[in-house]
Amino acid sequence: MTPLSKMQTMLFETQASLSPQAFVDRIIGHSQQDSSLKPAKACGFGAAPVNIALSKYWGKRETTLNLPINSSVSISLPGLGTQTELSLTEGQQDQIVLNDQLLEPHHPFAKRLSGFLDYFRLNDHTMFHVDTLNSVPTAAGLASSASGYAALVLALNDLFQWQLQPKKLSLLARLGSGSASRSLYPGFAIWHKGERDDGMDSYAEAIETSWPELCIGLLKIDIGEKSVGSTAGMQQTVNTCELYQTWPQQAEKDVLKIQQAITNKDFTLLGETAEHNALSMHATMIATWPPILYWQPESVAAMHTIWQLRQQGVTVYFTMDAGPNLKLLFLETQKPAIEQAFAELEVIQPFKQS
Ligand code: DP6
Repeated sequence: MTPLSKMQTMLFETQASLSPQAFVDRIIGHSQQDSSLKPAKACGFGAAPVNIALSKYWGKRETTLNLPINSSVSISLPGLGTQTELSLTEGQQDQIVLNDQLLEPHHPFAKRLSGFLDYFRLNDHTMFHVDTLNSVPTAAGLASSASGYAALVLALNDLFQWQLQPKKLSLLARLGSGSASRSLYPGFAIWHKGERDDGMDSYAEAIETSWPELCIGLLKIDIGEKSVGSTAGMQQTVNTCELYQTWPQQAEKDVLKIQQAITNKDFTLLGETAEHNALSMHATMIATWPPILYWQPESVAAMHTIWQLRQQGVTVYFTMDAGPNLKLLFLETQKPAIEQAFAELEVIQPFKQS
């Protein structure tokens, strides 16, 4: 199998008109290297929830500024996410503590985080001490990178006292990890893909709607680290999957349907669109070369159980990210039947919990 021709890949590619450093400087309004600036506080703090995409982000049109090919819509899960403390330190490298463990500098998580922190150093000797606590398993398809980069950007904003508005925080978080752009908000959020090649219009906003009866059930099949991360997985899909050609159009239509479902509290439209969208994304992953299949046999068994429940009149749908775990979508009235079918389910009501 040969990769897609350059012509096909170019359908999606745009050229960044700014470097990531210039992008950051423009958002915060100055260069961090300006020697007249000092951090206003000894320690910055940030906390952000994980989010589950109801219409997915899959594919970048530009990788240095992290610009997506399509828009996406998500729901944040209160009580699950990341808390981060940040301070400046002396030394040769950043100290990154994840869940009470100091990481080696070459640990992939530490390397990626330090690479992002490079845009915020006061000078070449400023190192950061990052203490980050995840209440979800890291890199297990439960969106910990989303809450992680959103919490980190909030901690930077607090440490340096920039007082940035959510839109700008979302732009910065996007640079760390695309889905993090949506984790700045509780409830529903929409990440506009944007059109500009400087990335300034690619940020998320809150969709101000409350839906108290809405439940999300987390079905943890396997919380081990996934074999292919989202960043590499989506790049491989864009480069080698013929089916991907139709994804951007479907994704934009699905975003509109999910928005309509939220506005009208139309649960069937929400569930059907989210499930179809997730399966379409996974179809592009599977039709990539080499194939990417995140599902485990237990994931497929759970899908069959969900489809059987629907045949019995229980209104339940699912979505899945880059991992084997399922996230079930249902309304409160269906909770007893669903908890009976899935004994291990962790149920979250995003608009009832804080
Ligand atoms: C399947 O945001 O983790 O969860 O921007 O490369 O960090 P990067 O990717 P990431 O991808 C998330 C992909 C997804 C779908 C979604 O959350 O929309």
